[in-house]
Amino acid sequence: MKGIVLSGGAGTRLFPATKVVSKQLLPVYDKPMIYYPISLLMMAGIREILIITAPESLDQFQNLLGTGAQWGLKFSYLIQPRPEGIAQALILGRNFIQDDSVTLILGDNIFWGEGLAEMVSHAIRQKQGATIFLYRVHDPERYGVATIDQQGKILEIEEKPKKPKSNFAVTGLYCYDYHAAEYASMLKPSGRGELEITELNRIYLQKGELRAEYIGRGVAWLDTGTHQALLQAAMFVESIQERQGLLIAAPEEIAYRMGYISTKQLLEQAQMMRNTNYGNILIHIAQG
Ligand code: G1P
Repeated sequence: MKGIVLSGGAGTRLFPATKVVSKQLLPVYDKPMIYYPISLLMMAGIREILIITAPESLDQFQNLLGTGAQWGLKFSYLIQPRPEGIAQALILGRNFIQDDSVTLILGDNIFWGEGLAEMVSHAIRQKQGATIFLYRVHDPERYGVATIDQQGKILEIEEKPKKPKSNFAVTGLYCYDYHAAEYASMLKPSGRGELEITELNRIYLQKGELRAEYIGRGVAWLDTGTHQALLQAAMFVESIQERQGLLIAAPEEIAYRMGYISTKQLLEQAQMMRNTNYGNILIHIAQG
């Protein structure tokens, strides 16, 4: 049971904010964007995580995340030399995945809400096939779009169709069996020069091995694709954290609650951030 966070990409849609900083390192309110997908993998019980970055940002990700031991995890790192598609992450990660199942999440995908981690850990337990996670959006043409039948079975997936046949977007979260890297290496680059994750999912679909999980309206899948969307995501996180006095996507807290780190370890990490609300909430948690 492995996890991959893909944080490559040139981030051109957020220029100039991302000219010298990777998009996935930008803050979403009080923490780097990549904390959100890492937190979801952690909550699903995944502890071995490969971070794939653009060459120029590898050092920064390593400085931020280290070995993972501080959160009871094991991080590995690889570079994606050029942004040649999401499916390439599985080919690059082949030695890391080995014969295991793998959950791939995009470093800029932020999910928040009850039940999602359980949904992912359930998907991981399926021995064969792949699971994609669908979410209803008003602008499906910006995403992979799934057409489904009355029973909720997937009939077709299309990448950014001009005329979407449904409102169900394919989110940037995918669970695969151990065949993923092998199937991904059969793909040819698309018109935009990328190994499309949609094409990989289509292979599973053709084999009758692609399942869909529906992320309900009680879960937020936040957009970070534009400056405005990024600000709105930050405001969403701020308003919920402020109201509840809790943190969304704090790996220190999750590590503690999962039993990976001790109260002392949590407190040590929290103390270093005591000048912030983030640190103070962690201190509270450590003090029970
Ligand atoms: C990618 C995928 C698309 C998916 C989306 C989710 O789009 O190609 O199928 O719906 O991520 O974030 P991209 O970010 O490459 O535009």
